[in-house]
Amino acid sequence: MANQKIDHWRALWDDAYEQPVGDGDPSLNLAGWTSSYTGLPIPLADMREWVAGTVGRIDSLTPSRVLEIGCGTGMLLLRIAPRCEIYRGVDFSPTSLAYVAEQVRVAGIEGVRLFEADADQLALPASERFDLVVLNSVVQYFPDADYLRRVLLGAIQHLAPGGAIFLGDLRSRSLLPCFHSSRLLRQADRDRPLSELATQLTGDVASEVEWALDPADLEAITAYLPGSVSITTQLKRGRRRNEMTCFRYDATLRLEPGPAWGRGADGKDVVADWRDEALSASIVRGWLDARGEADLTLQGIPNARLVEELKALRWLRRPEGLETVGELARAVRRARLSGIEPEDLWRLERGGVGDELRIEVDWQADAADRFLARVSR
Ligand SMILES: C[S@@+](CC[C@H](N)C(=O)[O-])C[C@H]1O[C@@H](n2cnc3c(N)ncnc32)[C@H](O)[C@@H]1O
Repeated sequence: MANQKIDHWRALWDDAYEQPVGDGDPSLNLAGWTSSYTGLPIPLADMREWVAGTVGRIDSLTPSRVLEIGCGTGMLLLRIAPRCEIYRGVDFSPTSLAYVAEQVRVAGIEGVRLFEADADQLALPASERFDLVVLNSVVQYFPDADYLRRVLLGAIQHLAPGGAIFLGDLRSRSLLPCFHSSRLLRQADRDRPLSELATQLTGDVASEVEWALDPADLEAITAYLPGSVSITTQLKRGRRRNEMTCFRYDATLRLEPGPAWGRGADGKDVVADWRDEALSASIVRGWLDARGEADLTLQGIPNARLVEELKALRWLRRPEGLETVGELARAVRRARLSGIEPEDLWRLERGGVGDELRIEVDWQADAADRFLARVSR
């Protein structure tokens, strides 16, 4: 039964993706986004607001290594991946992946790889670790709680310590009757007897094909995952009234405990080394949310502003077979060096951990390509 449901949705989505839908902006391909109220495409203004709100919410988690399960036409991927070190997109629709691959190529976005797989059968390299796993507007196509639990288990195997799982656009189970009554009342003829509509409402709620779940259901599902999981839920952003802003919500799951970082000499300061802990701004953010009381010094952070410049200087002094400036420039580009944008750390100041957070970013005295950040309240 569960497999039949998955096959049904796979066929439906693959079909939907045959024809791009939208206003010509290839990064906003709205194929499959049909209004339950009208049966027509959801208005562009609503979808623009929805994308901006969702991207903003994910950005506030400051991810740098992202796995998106159910990446669709890449509306999130194409916006978020350019700011990330790596971005992996998984979907069970080959048509959607072919579309996204082409857009990634045209836009020249680096660090993206795409995989065709069912959400509960990720076959990613075992060593790959992510600081954020995104499942946005996907969970409603899962057959049941067992399936979601399997998906979360698979995701957790690839989650760096302190990483987060973003479950976006979850359909509220408690509000299903209200969603259907709102839809039926808008569609019904003005002279239709309410008693008839009430009967139809009961039938429509009972035969709902998309899965809906409440925050309490999430608590129950995550209770059996290894380690303890903290869950925060939020209403959707946006002023426009539609089936997303009214009846859906987002949840962020964090695995506890985060990284075990040592105390500094004063016993109050916590010191963490970026290289040793495979950190990212998102992991730091989660740690601060959980343990608000301590000050934190982060050291050894690779400086994105300088990694290429310093590599070029090193090769200029010891060319290792490179002969021309062009060859050197190409070798630097190919080396795909990555670092952390200091602005991403300053962004934590307004990342939801409290207005009182102060972040000082400084050169690291003993390593020119590294910087450090002191976080205090
Ligand atoms: C509504 S779209 C969301 C796309 C994207 N996450 C976004 O927010 O724009 C749902 C996507 O999830 C994919 N999907 C649904 N169920 C899936 C499953 N069980 N395994 C893998 N992909 C799935 C569909 O093919 C579709 O591309």
